[in-house]
Amino acid sequence: MQIYLAPLQGLTDRVFRASFYENIGHFDKTFSPFIRVQNENFYRPTQCNDILATHNLFQQPVPQFLGNDAASFQKFEELCIENGYNEVNINMGCPYPMVTGKKMGAGLLAHPDLISKLLEGIFSGTKLRVSVKCRLGMENTNDFPEIIAILNQFPLEEVIIHPRIGKQQYKGEADMKAFAQFAPSVNHSVCYNGDILTPEDVNRLVQLSPQTDKIMIGRGILRNPFLLSEIRGEKLTREEKVKMLRNFHLSMIENCGKKYSGDQHFLRHMVELWEYQSLAFEDGHKIFKAVKKCKTQSQYGEIIFAAINNYQ
Ligand SMILES: Cc1cc2nc3c(=O)[nH]c(=O)nc-3n(C[C@H](O)[C@H](O)[C@H](O)COP(=O)(O)O)c2cc1C
Repeated sequence: MQIYLAPLQGLTDRVFRASFYENIGHFDKTFSPFIRVQNENFYRPTQCNDILATHNLFQQPVPQFLGNDAASFQKFEELCIENGYNEVNINMGCPYPMVTGKKMGAGLLAHPDLISKLLEGIFSGTKLRVSVKCRLGMENTNDFPEIIAILNQFPLEEVIIHPRIGKQQYKGEADMKAFAQFAPSVNHSVCYNGDILTPEDVNRLVQLSPQTDKIMIGRGILRNPFLLSEIRGEKLTREEKVKMLRNFHLSMIENCGKKYSGDQHFLRHMVELWEYQSLAFEDGHKIFKAVKKCKTQSQYGEIIFAAINNYQ
């Protein structure tokens, strides 16, 4: 089973990916959070920093494009080629209204004609391998068979399916049964994504969809950094886990300290991470409350390293 790290905007950035790679484990692939390109302009130019070659010396991610026209994709492709990439991913899953309202992300799924035009434009000139990450639809799954038929017309590297619809955002459960129903009609290599929190979830998926050989995990890794080794059947002692967690967070602190200016900015980022990370701890609720109250980086360090020393 190949295991990919999901792109999580604001969370699985280059600092997280490097710290994880160096201290906890290696994913078969990682993906950058989306880089939005609109009217041939980078919507937030700082998003491009995440994929700069000099920032990704450990393991290159697959850069992700969020947009809906081929000219904008070309702009993105130039950036990727300049930085030595040969594979990229197209976001057809972002559910936020500010994105879907512009017919981007999951919003594209309500417009199969636009998907067709986008992919025709891309494949008429791209030098890159291109994959797609999508949901089952925007409002419902009615258009998904048509979307699969479109995806089947192009030489995609792979298709990553998150079996929710855009309208759900992250509510309800990822629908493994619907994935099992649709995946066989995709002529490309398919990767499953959504709500993998334990090795048992992987077993359930494989029972429902026996041909699955790739999964992508996002929040499950933030909640349990050892999920990757658990799925791979690797046994770690408590001491090993504590050491890995300590080194991971030391690296996060050191590198986020450089990336974010000032304690407030730094702490805001850490609160986002600990909303998930605290769930790895027995008294996670208390730890998250304490992290939210921190006023300085050194206070933050004291709280989290005390928690990590008591990790069970
Ligand atoms: C905070 C947050 C940010 C996300 N950012 C992105 C993104 O930049 N690109 C993307 O394709 N998906 C993004 N996603 C969706 C995840 O990649 C993934 O599809 C989703 O969380 C389901 O997988 P999981 O249950 O393993 O987390 C984001 C999800 C969350 C919760």
